[in-house]
Amino acid sequence: MNPIYERERSAVTVRPARSGDVEVIRAIRNHAIEHSTALWTQTPQSSAEAATWLAAHLERGSAFVAEADGEVAGFAVYGPWRALDGYRHTVEDSVYVREGRHGLGIGSALLAALITAAREAGHHVVIAGIEAENTSSIRLHERFGFQRVGVIPEVGTKFGRWLDLTLMRLALS
Ligand SMILES: CC(C)(COP(=O)(O)OP(=O)(O)OC[C@H]1O[C@@H](n2cnc3c(N)ncnc32)[C@H](O)[C@@H]1OP(=O)(O)O)[C@@H](O)C(=O)NCCC(=O)NCCS
Repeated sequence: MNPIYERERSAVTVRPARSGDVEVIRAIRNHAIEHSTALWTQTPQSSAEAATWLAAHLERGSAFVAEADGEVAGFAVYGPWRALDGYRHTVEDSVYVREGRHGLGIGSALLAALITAAREAGHHVVIAGIEAENTSSIRLHERFGFQRVGVIPEVGTKFGRWLDLTLMRLALS
């Protein structure tokens, strides 16, 4: 385990993800797809899609998991914000904590590790795109210095209603 990624708070350890974490990450992600507006789709990720998605992160070193009580309790990833090369110094983060373990500091431990790793990788800005009513995620990001830079009304839809996107930004350098 790389000590850079170790973060202790409420007995939580954050470490780089491994390929063997794929199914637990997929389960956490698919739960959010099914039950929340955190991810704006109702199509669950298949095992094959999850493996391809995680492999790209493992190659970049941009995926992390939090372990608590001997199990993976959450994950965080960062990846390119937009595809064109002019955006190459900007990344977007995602943080997901297993249902039943919210509010225990796990999301904070994950985001702290992700920010450290993104800074060490030389990135300049981290963006978070958050459903505007997701107060937990907005609060989590504010805690780490992200600032709200705007809200784009009604750019998404799920569960029969329009969704607004809050954009938050953290400068790393
Ligand atoms: C958002 C999420 C990642 C936060 O992780 P977490 O482990 O619950 O958060 P933490 O315990 O580290 O707390 C971080 C901050 O969020 C706030 N928070 C946590 N749960 C909250 C809740 N239910 N309501 C309001 N604020 C909450 C805490 O107050 C804390 O800030 P503070 O300590 O300065 O008050 C987690 O709730 C989650 O996985 N939600 C579902 C998926 C999701 O929405 N992901 C983000 C997509 S953009």
